[in-house]
Amino acid sequence: MPVSRRNFLRGVGATGGAGAMFGAMGALGLAPAAVAAPTAAFTPPRPSDFTLTGRSARNVLVLGAGIAGLTTAYELGKAGYRVTLLEGRARPGGRNWTVRGGDTETDLKGETQRVRFAEGQYMNAGPARIPQHHVTMDYCRELGVPLEPFVNQNADALLYYTGDTALSNQAVTHRAAKADVYGYVSELLSKATDAGALDGELSAEDKEALTEFLRDFGDLGNSTGDPAAAGLYLGGSGRRGFDVEPAAGLQSGTVSPAPGLHDVIASGIGREFSFEFGWDQAVMMFQPVGGMDRIAYALERAVGPNRIRYGSTVTGIRTTPAGADVDYTDAAGVPRTATADFVVNTIPPHIAARIPHNLGPAVTTALQTPVPSPTGKIGLEYTRRWWEDDLRIYGGITNTDLDLAHVWYPSSGFHSDRGVVVGYYNYGQDALDYAALPHSARRQRAVVNGARIHGDVYGRDIASSFSVSWSATRFSEAGWVGWDDQEGPAYRTLLAPQGNVYFAGDHLSHAIAWQHGAMTSARATVTALHQRVMSA
Ligand code: ALA
Repeated sequence: MPVSRRNFLRGVGATGGAGAMFGAMGALGLAPAAVAAPTAAFTPPRPSDFTLTGRSARNVLVLGAGIAGLTTAYELGKAGYRVTLLEGRARPGGRNWTVRGGDTETDLKGETQRVRFAEGQYMNAGPARIPQHHVTMDYCRELGVPLEPFVNQNADALLYYTGDTALSNQAVTHRAAKADVYGYVSELLSKATDAGALDGELSAEDKEALTEFLRDFGDLGNSTGDPAAAGLYLGGSGRRGFDVEPAAGLQSGTVSPAPGLHDVIASGIGREFSFEFGWDQAVMMFQPVGGMDRIAYALERAVGPNRIRYGSTVTGIRTTPAGADVDYTDAAGVPRTATADFVVNTIPPHIAARIPHNLGPAVTTALQTPVPSPTGKIGLEYTRRWWEDDLRIYGGITNTDLDLAHVWYPSSGFHSDRGVVVGYYNYGQDALDYAALPHSARRQRAVVNGARIHGDVYGRDIASSFSVSWSATRFSEAGWVGWDDQEGPAYRTLLAPQGNVYFAGDHLSHAIAWQHGAMTSARATVTALHQRVMSA
């Protein structure tokens, strides 16, 4: 069958999908070959640094008690720095926010949602998965935060893409899609090899090895070794799933028949397979037992809750010959000024850009440069775990080109009597479209679209729901930011101290939208600040 290269690439989604989208947004530091070295070593400041040199620890004011601010305070505190954090919210963690029953949130549009999830139920509104190689894992170990697996891919989760092929507008299991896409791509490559199309690149031995690999990878041929079937994807081995599953006695199982080559390629059903190849998205992944905010609260405990002034909104920042001053309004609405030797500002750049300061116009320009990215989620609490009971989906993610983008099934609480499904986790225009709606309309739209994938069961047994739009969330105003240029003057301006004011946050890392980015940025700032103090 003639397939033009362009259509082929478009068909298998090699040029699109979430991986490419994230890459374009600068959200992931995807460079597997370049990141072979382990995360840069970090030596936290120690009390002995001061006792051995006769120097004294200084006062530091940290703006923001999100993950970057908490990590900064924690690491400086180890050596005896006197750290105070000013935090606008009434809780630690920033975007690391686990939503539970009893919580109340008023968004920037003025809508208040009261969370009614049952005891023990939650949604991680912000970060929700941790790769093995992130320093987030090290802090969990150090702070005693128990972890459990996060199911980032599941063969029995679903794919649903709109279109006009026989595979469009219906739920297909990840398992079947993978078998079919790998199968037909292998068949095509096998045919091209046989036809001599790769003779310029491959020796006869190479071709044999490739054919051997493709036979296994794509499940080519049939079990009897019929030469007429060699090199063909017949979908007959059960890899893609069964209509009647194998069981006792003579029940060998009935394989569900594979769709044709055209439908598999033209449906683009493989467009998101590359996501799980990503440096930061490959299994295994983890989550704290009980909610991502276990990390925030563990850091708060380690820092000392009395060091954090909650409900404090920063209104002015000034570097001075002796240190730095920060104006803020406290929880009672009283204007105050705090003074310290140094300030570490972890406020999101697009918000920090609006706070008056004396650091010069280049700093304002730099803070205005990264582009805020909208994102949102809805948590649907069901009183029956139908995805487990009916579909045998235990955790994992369903991907779709509907405006929901991703549906997440809970990675814990299997077989319990209720659970929170993330009904959408979307970005860009989809996120803005949902953000524009009141919660009840978001929920209605999410359920209508979710039912297209899962059927009517999706609209039944919903006990409660909660949605977050990060662009409409006070003190965040975005899910994360993207830079066009992480080499240029704007980025570098914020990497350097401006007088006695430093900056930190995931936006100053190559792991944007990850706690790892916030933590490694905090460590870099702590190191720079401490070196300066020690060399003074
Ligand atoms: N780090 C974020 C995620 O994994 C963007 O979804």
